[in-house]
Amino acid sequence: MALQQKGMHGAWVSRWTFIMAATGSAVGLGNIWKFPYIAGSNGGGAFVLVYLACILFIGVPVMMAEVMLGRHGRKSPINAMRDIVSESGVDRRWAHLGWLGVLAGILILSFYAVIAGWALSYIIEIGSGQLRGADGDTAAAAFTQLLNDPSRLIFWQTVFLTLCVAVVMGGVKKGLGVAVETLMPILFLILLGLLVFSVFKGNFQAAANFLFHFNLDQLTWRSVLEAMGHAFFTLSIGMGAIMAYGAYMPQKDSIGKTVLIVAFFDSAVAIISGLVIFSIVFATPGIEPSAGPGLMFISLPVAFGNMPGGLLIGAIFFILVSIAAWSSAISLLEPCVAWLVETKNMGRFQANMIFAVIAWILGLGTVFSFNIGSDYQLFGFTFFDFLDFLTANIMLPISGLLIALFVGYVVDKKIIQSEMLGTDPKVQLLWRYALRYLAPFAIGAVFIMGLYDKFL
Ligand code: TRP
Repeated sequence: MALQQKGMHGAWVSRWTFIMAATGSAVGLGNIWKFPYIAGSNGGGAFVLVYLACILFIGVPVMMAEVMLGRHGRKSPINAMRDIVSESGVDRRWAHLGWLGVLAGILILSFYAVIAGWALSYIIEIGSGQLRGADGDTAAAAFTQLLNDPSRLIFWQTVFLTLCVAVVMGGVKKGLGVAVETLMPILFLILLGLLVFSVFKGNFQAAANFLFHFNLDQLTWRSVLEAMGHAFFTLSIGMGAIMAYGAYMPQKDSIGKTVLIVAFFDSAVAIISGLVIFSIVFATPGIEPSAGPGLMFISLPVAFGNMPGGLLIGAIFFILVSIAAWSSAISLLEPCVAWLVETKNMGRFQANMIFAVIAWILGLGTVFSFNIGSDYQLFGFTFFDFLDFLTANIMLPISGLLIALFVGYVVDKKIIQSEMLGTDPKVQLLWRYALRYLAPFAIGAVFIMGLYDKFL
C-alpha cells in the first residue's frame, strides 16, 4: 500500500523548480513587510546580525532536516512522518509532529491572507492616484480607513485566497510548478529595479547604516526570540511546508546545496527589501523606522505619492508584495491539501475549498482585530498579534526543536544516509552537529529567555 502511494502527487520537473518553489515559499510577507518593521522596532543592526546567525546556524540545518524527511516520505507531512516513524521503529508519538505543522500552517494562512489583501488593495489605491501628493498624515489616515472597514478587508482576503486556490488546484506540475517558475523571475526583476530606484532616489546611506550598524547594547532576549522566530517564519520551516515541497524533489539532488541556495535567496530578498524600504523611509520626513506593521503601508505611499512616476513605481511595488505573498501562501495550503487527497481520496479542488474556507473563517478574527474587535485581548495581544506571536515565536520554534531532535537522535540512520548521499560529507558532519547540539540548545535557551523577558 505504502509503496503504491509513493509520489502520488507528482514531482517538480527539475531541481531548479524545487529551488524556485522553496524560494517562493520562503520569500513572502515575512521578507518584505515583516522583516523591515521588526528590524525597525528592534533597533536595526544588532537584530539583523542575530537574525542572520539564526538563519545560518539554526534555520539551514532544520530546513535540511525537513527537506530530507519530506523527500524520504514522498507524501504530505502528516503521512510522511507517520511512515518514517514506523520505518524507524520508534515511539509513535513522534508522528504528531506532522500535525503540529499543519495546524500552524492553517493559523498562519488565516492572517497571511488578510495582510496580503492589504497589499492587493494598495496596488489599486496607489495606482489610481488616490494618494498623489499625500503627506504622512493623509497616508496614515488612508491606511487606518482601510483597517477600519471590515468589508473591504474581507473582500481582499477573499480575492487572495481565491488566487491561492486557483494555483494549488492545478497540482504540483501545472499549478505550483508553473506558478513559481513564472512568478519568481518577475519578483526578482521588480526587486532589483526598486533597489536601483532607491539608490538614486532614496536615502540609501542612512538605510545601510541603520541595517548594518551592529550595536549589541540594544539587544534583549525578547528581540533575540523574535529574530529566531522570524528566521523560522521566513524560511517557512517548522510546519511542513518545506517538508511537503521536499516530497516532490528529485531523488539525486544534494539537499545541503539546495537548501543553502534557498536560504541565500531568502536572506538577500529580506536585506534588499529592508534597504529599499528604509531608503525611502529615511528620505521622507516625519516617519519613524519603528512604525510597526504600518511601516510599508504608510511611509512608502507618501514617498511614492510625491515623486515623478511614483504612482507607477508604487503600484509595481505592491504587485511585488502580492506576488511574494501569493507564492508563499500556496505552500501553506499545499501540505493540507495533499494530506486530504491522500487520506480521504478527495479531489484537489474539494480539498482546497475545505482549507480555504477554514482559513477564511479564522481570518475573520484577524480582520476584526483591526476594527470592531480591537479591544478584545488574549494574553495582552489583539487576536492578530496573538496568532502572529503564537505561530512564529512559539509553534515554529517548538516544532523546529522537535525536528532537530528527531533527525539528530531518533530517526533510523539508514534513512539519513540514503537521503544525504548527494551532500558533501563535511557538510553532513556539520549538519549533524548542528542538529544534535547547537540547534536544540540555542532554540531552548532563546525560547525560555525570550518568554521570560516577554511575560515576567
Ligand atoms: N516564509 C513566508 C514568509 O516569509 C511565510 C510562510 C510560507 C511560512 N510558508 C510558511 C511560514 C510555512 C512558516 C511556515 O512570508
